[in-house]
Amino acid sequence: MTVRHGDNPTLALVMVGLPARGKTYVARKVLRYLNWLGHQTRLFNVGNYRREHIGSLQRHEFFDPRNEDGARGRTQMALMALEDMLHWFATGGEVGIYDATNTTKERRKLIVERCRVQGVRVVFIESIANEAIVEANVRATKLDSPDYVGIDPDVAVADFRARIEHYASVYEPVEESEGSFIKLIDVGTQLTVNRISGYLPSRLVSFLVNLHNVNRPIWLTRHGQTEFNVAGRIGGNSDLSELGRNYADALKAFYDQRIAPHGEVEVWTSTLARTVQTAEHLKLGTALSWYALNEIEAGVCDGMTYPEIRASYPDEYAARSRDKLGYRYPQGESYMDVIERVEPVALELERQKNPVLIISHQAVLRALYGYLMGRDREEIPHLSVPLHTVLELTPKAYGCEERRFALGPNLPVHTGSSS
Ligand code: F6P
Repeated sequence: MTVRHGDNPTLALVMVGLPARGKTYVARKVLRYLNWLGHQTRLFNVGNYRREHIGSLQRHEFFDPRNEDGARGRTQMALMALEDMLHWFATGGEVGIYDATNTTKERRKLIVERCRVQGVRVVFIESIANEAIVEANVRATKLDSPDYVGIDPDVAVADFRARIEHYASVYEPVEESEGSFIKLIDVGTQLTVNRISGYLPSRLVSFLVNLHNVNRPIWLTRHGQTEFNVAGRIGGNSDLSELGRNYADALKAFYDQRIAPHGEVEVWTSTLARTVQTAEHLKLGTALSWYALNEIEAGVCDGMTYPEIRASYPDEYAARSRDKLGYRYPQGESYMDVIERVEPVALELERQKNPVLIISHQAVLRALYGYLMGRDREEIPHLSVPLHTVLELTPKAYGCEERRFALGPNLPVHTGSSS
């Protein structure tokens, strides 16, 4: 399902920067964020076109601007990706991310002109990075690139460095006269914007301003079992059951053993009794409670069991089974509403450099997990986030690594219409 915001024209986000400046890292983060919010977004990576159509084995000489064959081939790939992006807009796409170096004014002018003909607005996102970041990027991402499969790491690094020099010899940073841009300097350190207006570009600025590249774990867990869970009732504000208190103790042991050694940890709960009580067992005294982390509001169905909902509101029950993402409980919320509501939490997660433990609820954690793992929106209401389990997500170069810890006690599962 698409969320369209009235005045949103189609938007091309055109990445700019020398190789190993984190362009693809930023592009993928933006892709994940915008798709999660319901904007139809697709990434067009020119490097992938080159690997697919020309082959991945080109050494640095191919990227030398004086190499006419190489230059011709690269231009062809850039145009092919551009035409595919324009086709994507023509078939309902809302945002296209054009991921290439785009280091010359001439190339950027060509992109702007092609987009203008089709009424597509262009915003450049230029990534500039210091030598330490470049070195880390080369080691973290380029050595695993399909361009260097089976090549000795030192040879690969030297070749990649030579490739960077070829691009640097023709690099022209984006200038004010070229239109709208966001310049990211040393990811998360400095951000410059020029002619940015409108709903989506402004939202992007607040997203990009929070980005950093400190990889620290995020733990997600639901509260311990509650009296309502025992009875199979949804919503409410009930207390932990005895098994729920046992879980809170198990979580405390897990915290001491696996979380605390990471140093200063942020602990966030909802404002509801069950998450606050779970956190109290940790005996930290410093959990932050967010209203945004409260469970999905079930409106007129709050406090009912799923069989009771089916009997009292058969049409509502059926509607939720058909479209669990878009379905909104009467006087309550839908999963789409929950995603909008937790968006500030996602931004804060991006901003935080400390590890974070979030103690929240099934629907809200599905939304956050879906964001962190880059899952399709349609999947979010069906993701598995069981009670008494900790999900440990560690951001890596492109995405998160996941581990699950079932701490027990084990419980019977109550499922809804379409869990
Ligand atoms: O059953 C526990 C619970 O957290 C309810 O409070 C909430 O309505 C439900 O899970 C959300 O899960 P689903 O969207 O699958 O009904």
